[in-house]
Amino acid sequence: MEFLRYISVLTAVVLSTFASQIPLQETEGAPEVDVFQIYQSQFSEHSIRIKKQQNDTLCNAHSAQYTGWLDVGPKHFFFWYFESQTSPSTDPLVLWLTGGPGGSSMIGMMQELGPCLINEHGNGTVCNEFGWSKNANLIFVDQPAGVGFSYVDKDTPVPGSSFTAAEDMHHFMQLFTSEVFPDLLHRDFHISGESYGGHYIPTLGAQIVSQNTLYPTRPQVNLASILVGNGYVSPLDTAFGYWETLCTTNPGTKSPIFNQTRCDVMASNLPRCMDVTRTCYSSLDPAICNVAGAICWDGVIVHYDGESGAGGRNRFDITAPCKTKDEWCYPEIMRTQDYLNLDWVWEALHVPKAVGSFSAFSEEVGLAFTLTNDEGISTQPQVLYLLENGIDVLFYQGNFDLACNTAGNIRWTNNMPWKGQPAFVAQERRKWKDGDEEVGWFKEVKVKMGEDEKDTTFSFSTVDGAGHMVPYDKPKEALALLDRWLLKRSFA
Ligand SMILES: *[C@@H]1O[C@H](CO)[C@@H](O)[C@H](O)[C@H]1NC(C)=O
Ligand SMILES: *[C@@H]1O[C@H](CO)[C@@H](O)[C@H](O)[C@H]1NC(C)=O
Ligand SMILES: *[C@@H]1O[C@H](CO)[C@@H](O)[C@H](O)[C@H]1NC(C)=O
Repeated sequence: MEFLRYISVLTAVVLSTFASQIPLQETEGAPEVDVFQIYQSQFSEHSIRIKKQQNDTLCNAHSAQYTGWLDVGPKHFFFWYFESQTSPSTDPLVLWLTGGPGGSSMIGMMQELGPCLINEHGNGTVCNEFGWSKNANLIFVDQPAGVGFSYVDKDTPVPGSSFTAAEDMHHFMQLFTSEVFPDLLHRDFHISGESYGGHYIPTLGAQIVSQNTLYPTRPQVNLASILVGNGYVSPLDTAFGYWETLCTTNPGTKSPIFNQTRCDVMASNLPRCMDVTRTCYSSLDPAICNVAGAICWDGVIVHYDGESGAGGRNRFDITAPCKTKDEWCYPEIMRTQDYLNLDWVWEALHVPKAVGSFSAFSEEVGLAFTLTNDEGISTQPQVLYLLENGIDVLFYQGNFDLACNTAGNIRWTNNMPWKGQPAFVAQERRKWKDGDEEVGWFKEVKVKMGEDEKDTTFSFSTVDGAGHMVPYDKPKEALALLDRWLLKRSFA
């Protein structure tokens, strides 16, 4: 099993045999240290400090909300947890991870799918009618350590790979579901996210499955599915998909974005980009992968991305201009950053001074990932491992995205060798609807894996007219997509 190489067995010392399971209560006007409830893991050096949020001005969530940090030695992970607005005691648990690497999950929360969204001034929030906590208990975590409100102690390096990040996140979810909210232990757990989440999520899923198997007597994280929006899984296929996305009308544009001249140049450069990237995949040698990245950039990617950013093209939506002076193109990101740096917000969240300031992106984490070549490899093996272990998998796509385009993601899903492959490849694309409205197309297969009675679902579904951030561009359709997946695992 390819990925096992990366999974390190838990070596942490068993610290204490008891957990402090104090019921969640707030003491009015208590000093800072007493603001949080502390939960210590029985199995590792991890503990969680958590606080119920009482101030609705911060985020009017229409349900109970909790914030705090997971502490693991010198690493501290920030989370924001919203109970379901409908049925907290029976609805499933959904984790959201924003990509990057280095992006804060607060971007996803405040720009896309949280119960409250950043306002136009960056000084408050507005209610989101289509927030994903409608029918799910929803948790956002800033990870890897060093991202957003998460921090590391002085002289501690930030994590440099999805695999290190996954170890920490597995401990987080184990502690969160077994000791902080033991009600959640047997509830279905789903990992959702976007973009570089295509690396984080399959890796975390695989870590959970393998740890559950290795340690059957420890609390099992009840992983039911992963759902990845515009995921960055395979650099090779993403580069390949540039041509289809820019040189055809398949994404749903009236005419292709690029003219024939440019498309010819890209097409003639593609085979070499594919060849060297394949060599990178088989060697995993960072030097070779760097060369592959450079060749694909110069031959293919640069034709669009070289003109993107500040006032130019938008990598996240081929039909929209870049709306900001920064490379992110969406003003909400910096508004979120402004908001989360307000003094009263820090007071409400009890942010430790060690955080310094809230940054929507951690350049340090981004660089650490580049140095280990995490960005150059494909996480298709982890997706495959999840399917083989009976975990349901959904990849969904806004069709106007270029950065993690539909063409590239359908390509690696078609090429993935597993029991469901022939049926998946043979299947026609079908339209799916939200009420009477056609939203996009989908393919899905249900396959019996192993001795298990149940079918394992692999779905790929798209949303027309949406870019990289589906819940931002199409909030109503995105919530419909989530609810369908959680309820019946089908777009038919
Ligand atoms: C919430 O925080 C705001 C800003 O500091 C403050 O004005 C308001 O009184 C707080 N509300 C509650 C209920 O504590
Ligand atoms: C937010 O900023 C706008 C524009 O400056 C201002 O009118 C409004 O009062 C501010 N709101 C809060 C809650 O500070
Ligand atoms: C094709 O597009 C490129 C980039 O926009 C432009 O520089 C070039 O002049 C175009 N060529 C033709 C033949 O239209």
